Amino acid sequence: MKTTLVPHLASPCCGADLKMSRLGEFPRVESHDIQEGALQCVACKSEYPIREGVPRLVLEQRDRRVIKTRDSFAFEWARYPGSLPEDERVFLEETQLPAAGFKGKLVLDAGCGMGRYSVVAMSLGAEVVALDLSESLSRVAAVAKDYPKLHVVQGDLLKPPLKAGAFDIVYSQGVLHHTSDTHAAFTAVSALVKPGGSLSVWLYGKAGRFADFATNPLRIEGGWTASHRRAAWVIVGARHFISDCIRLFTTRLPMRLSYVISWALAFLGALPFIKYLTFSVHPDFKVRVIENFDWISPPFQYHHTKEELRGWFEAAGFSGLKVLPHGLVPKPGILGRRDG
Ligand SMILES: C[S@@+](CC[C@H](N)C(=O)[O-])C[C@H]1O[C@@H](n2cnc3c(N)ncnc32)[C@H](O)[C@@H]1O
Ligand SMILES: [Zn+2]
Repeated sequence: MKTTLVPHLASPCCGADLKMSRLGEFPRVESHDIQEGALQCVACKSEYPIREGVPRLVLEQRDRRVIKTRDSFAFEWARYPGSLPEDERVFLEETQLPAAGFKGKLVLDAGCGMGRYSVVAMSLGAEVVALDLSESLSRVAAVAKDYPKLHVVQGDLLKPPLKAGAFDIVYSQGVLHHTSDTHAAFTAVSALVKPGGSLSVWLYGKAGRFADFATNPLRIEGGWTASHRRAAWVIVGARHFISDCIRLFTTRLPMRLSYVISWALAFLGALPFIKYLTFSVHPDFKVRVIENFDWISPPFQYHHTKEELRGWFEAAGFSGLKVLPHGLVPKPGILGRRDG
């Protein structure tokens, strides 16, 4: 952890400032990455450890579903192949953020996983805070040692240990629906954006009412989905129902067993037509294993419509909303600017 991160932090206990205490080493330069030590809340004096270079700004967790979701993501990202050549293209497409807008900006990757998109945002010129609840962040923490503008924080997005209004850009890719309350997590994350700053969020989608599904913005290659909206709506609803039935069982399995099932699904994912019955059609086998595991294992996985997400953006004081075009399965993604 670099000392330059401290002014952006807030304690998870009372939201007060944090100060360094019990440092394992003396930081000679601002960019020095402190590996061991502690931070103390200036209000109530609670202490939070810095371990393996990461400030651990979390309260004790007792909810078994949150613990399983957290550990499931730590398990999955530890086995993910690593950064992929398409990461930058996918990141810019899904966040709808312009590549030229990152230079010199303070950016939050809210739910960074192993940090594939934190690294992209940094390479575009931003100073990045990568935050996650799970140990998945140990992979990006290893990278952060060598980069003064990359910071890693362990924290809960329902109680983010960061200063309100501190960030020029906040993005959260496929994360908030894995918390126990998507809307509460959205509200907490949106408060971290500066007036005039940008927020980009995408969530897992659902069919919703036909009237809403029918106005989903489709990518140009939307093909038959565009001309057969009613059939597409039925397929998406049925797929969601089947997935929920499967997850009733798989989210209760030990993670290693879900992992074995994910391997079987990844093999099926190479077969024509049959692949659409699995949860990943990615060309890389290892990525398919992880994407299947990602779908079947974490207990928390909610689905939302673009109307719900748009309502949350508007209620939180964001405007100029841009809705993400997608394929058959709705992917509610919105980029907005905080009114200033
Ligand atoms: C599907 S992964 C997405 C990771 C990353 N955004 C990406 O696209 O590579 C979801 C991430 O959300 C994190 N997560 C779940 N609940 C969280 C919470 N309450 N606070 C912070 N992170 C959370 C998980 O640990 C996991 O790394
Ligand atoms: Zn406190």
